[in-house]
Amino acid sequence: MNWTTQDLTPFNTFGLTAQAEQYAALKSIDQLLDWAPSQAPDLVLGGGSNLLLMSQISGKTLHVLLGGVQVMRETGHRTEVRVGAGINWHQFVLYALENGWYGLENLALIPGTVGAAPVQNIGAYGLEVCERIVRVHAYEYGKGQLELSANDCQFAYRDSLFKREPGRFLITAVDFELGDDFPIRTHYGAIQDRLTQNGIKHPTPPDVARAVIEIRNQKLPDWSLMGNSGSFFKNPMVSADFARSLSDQYVDMPQYPVDGGQIKLAAGWLIDQCGFKGKRQGAVGCYKNQALVIVNHGGATSEEVLAFSQDVQQAVEAKFGVELEREVRLIR
Ligand code: EPU
Repeated sequence: MNWTTQDLTPFNTFGLTAQAEQYAALKSIDQLLDWAPSQAPDLVLGGGSNLLLMSQISGKTLHVLLGGVQVMRETGHRTEVRVGAGINWHQFVLYALENGWYGLENLALIPGTVGAAPVQNIGAYGLEVCERIVRVHAYEYGKGQLELSANDCQFAYRDSLFKREPGRFLITAVDFELGDDFPIRTHYGAIQDRLTQNGIKHPTPPDVARAVIEIRNQKLPDWSLMGNSGSFFKNPMVSADFARSLSDQYVDMPQYPVDGGQIKLAAGWLIDQCGFKGKRQGAVGCYKNQALVIVNHGGATSEEVLAFSQDVQQAVEAKFGVELEREVRLIR
């Protein structure tokens, strides 16, 4: 591998200025096997869409640019497709739709790469990516290449084995099972309303994708115009008892029961209620249409973003007694 210093500003969707001490681009598996690292680089960079990069990134930054989309198997309604970790997620979703490989349409327009998708088990509009993953191909540092079944990956809400054991694997490719026989999911959020608005009674997967793209474009800022990393915090999980005491006090509070009896609260709503929606502090703020998204209005430093996010956490804790956990990864 050839390690050089590199400006990471173009490689993070928050648009934060950051300098990598040692940077290398990974373009092939052979390159990886020749190098055969025994331990993880300090930062593995994919689409840079879920990161809060501090201004100096010490140690090694590996940029995963592994490509390739390959049909592995076609049986009846289903197609198994292997996709390189460095491929842009949304480009792959569009490519899959063009080929009639349906099942990912609810996840259209999520930023980032295919290799990053399993790490935090990306999800939106009632679908999590783990529902379409058959296996993940990875390199285990110090050991070599291996395959993990979906079960091995221990997927949960915005969580997986890869997230829990961050220095253990480098994801190189993901196998998806897609097809034209998955029931369409339109029950979540604004999808059904948008389809009705679009005059669609019997939606196809491309119709659902279009609805998702329209909704996301309306609610979430385009990072190429206004830097951001999507949801800055996770939606907090609380006990049913605590959720009930909150809903007694705040009758409009959105609450979603999840498996295991816990209740998921909407972080965006909590932040909004604290008056942060559209609020700006210098170059940092909460987006005007979705308080859960912290935005860089231009020239913000990572230190300013962090300080602003801590103000948000303190306000929510003080008003609701709920602790917000960052969804974005803080990289120093
Ligand atoms: N809400 C407000 N004010 C706000 C924001 C939200 O009142 O400023 C309310 C909404 O009206 C709604 C509830 O809070 O009742 C939830 O909001 P929304 O449906 O927009 O979804 P979310 O919980 O904020 C999650 C994901 C998003 C994903 C959407 C759609 C997390 C942390 N975020 O957001 O993912 O796009 O659902 O499925 O789970 C991301 O991870 O980067 C991301 C954007």
